[in-house]
Amino acid sequence: MGILKDRFKGKADQTAAEIKDILKEHGNKKIGEVILSQIYQGMRGMTGLVTETSLLDPQEGIRFRGYSIPDLQQKLPKAKGGDEPLPEGLFYLMLIGELPSEEDASHITSVWQRRSHVPNHVFAAIEALPIGTHPMTQFVIAVMALQTESQFAKRYAAGMNKKDYWDAAFDDSMDLIARLPRVAAYIYRRKYKFGDHIQPNGLLDWAGNFAHMLGYEDDGFKELMRLYMTIHADHEGGNVSAHATHLVGSALSDPYQSFAAGMNGLSGPLHGLANQEVIKWIFEMREELGVELPSTEQIAAYVKKTLSEGKVVPGYGHAVLRKTDPRFSAQMEFGKKHMPGDPLVNTVWRIYETVPPILQSMGKIKNPWPNVDAHSGALLVHYGMVEYDFYTVLFGVSRSLGVLASLCWDRALGMPIERPKSVTTEQVKKWLKGQDEIWGE
Ligand SMILES: CC(C)(COP(=O)(O)OP(=O)(O)OC[C@H]1O[C@@H](n2cnc3c(N)ncnc32)[C@H](O)[C@@H]1OP(=O)(O)O)[C@@H](O)C(=O)NCCC(=O)NCCS
Repeated sequence: MGILKDRFKGKADQTAAEIKDILKEHGNKKIGEVILSQIYQGMRGMTGLVTETSLLDPQEGIRFRGYSIPDLQQKLPKAKGGDEPLPEGLFYLMLIGELPSEEDASHITSVWQRRSHVPNHVFAAIEALPIGTHPMTQFVIAVMALQTESQFAKRYAAGMNKKDYWDAAFDDSMDLIARLPRVAAYIYRRKYKFGDHIQPNGLLDWAGNFAHMLGYEDDGFKELMRLYMTIHADHEGGNVSAHATHLVGSALSDPYQSFAAGMNGLSGPLHGLANQEVIKWIFEMREELGVELPSTEQIAAYVKKTLSEGKVVPGYGHAVLRKTDPRFSAQMEFGKKHMPGDPLVNTVWRIYETVPPILQSMGKIKNPWPNVDAHSGALLVHYGMVEYDFYTVLFGVSRSLGVLASLCWDRALGMPIERPKSVTTEQVKKWLKGQDEIWGE
């Protein structure tokens, strides 16, 4: 067994034993109450899942194994000459639960380099699609084409002992994460750069090499990719992409199938697609106003127009967060450091001054503050990546780190198939009249 797999197994066995004791002693303890409106309204605030890799505090934002984003920026290993955390280090932290050393992070870099080979049929599957196919569709199809490589599926078919599920899920997760940058870069270069593909550079870290294969050699863009891949990686377990991956994985669908399910969820405009929607919305506003940097008055008028057309203001609001997303703040800091005069980035900051009071005045929005998607596009455009249809693929590559680390934990902890109870409105009406019991088995 490799060092990482060994350490993971040790941690997982320890946690599994703790969970066993907790459940033996406290298994019947109530963890909350469910009210009727919650089951009609997206199960908000209903605790129903265990996800070990990160925890979201509504006021404070995300913490990965207890560490905030500023903590990660300070404590995780960096690339040589760089200031931003290496996503390899975050993966280690999420998987093992402890901060990695520089050596641990570079070990993961080299393991992912070794495992990054993408078979030709995956490129052929992408090439079979019309060039106009949305990059997220191409991405999901490529992930499914890669499923031929699943160790989990092969070993299950051969009769795997359930004690070994975690081992096969671990191998698939590492292979898949290693291969995603190549797949994503291939889609980008095919769709937007006339199929002029760039070979990987084995001397670079995972995110730096991704930037290189996308065709961006600027050190600033490489740093941005390290930050981007770190801050988009995980947001606890109930968001659509994480929950979909976990749910599908609970049927013992292999990590490729489970991750593809999560990526279909990330493709929704209320989830990961919001990052492309934000920049599209800003471009349309600038075009309509005919200015590069709209004033706050102009932005306010455009926001009101968007709302009056029955549309959401993309990049604002959150199902759980109740303040400015620290992932937004981290990107704002990056902008202040690397491109303080950029007009598009300044537009994002002006929108930040303008939108919250307008949303607040509507009275129904629980969180008027920006989320991660409100900022990311402007930073990418600064370096020349203007093809906003592609942005959700970047998010997806990053999200693999969190959801696949979690999938390894799911299998190591022997998590069962997920199967919550649902009801019909007819039955709810009977229950309200006292004619029927609807809860429980
Ligand atoms: C993220 C989001 C889906 C959360 O939804 P939610 O938990 O249902 O949010 P709320 O409880 O605050 O929603 C209450 C109402 O405010 C509306 N609302 C929420 N955010 C809004 C926004 N940014 N612009 C306009 N209206 C918004 C909702 O559509 C809902 O309206 P309704 O009662 O008429 O259906 C929602 O804020 C949104 O659509 N944001 C824009 C898309 C986005 O940025 N997504 C990325 C999320 S990381």
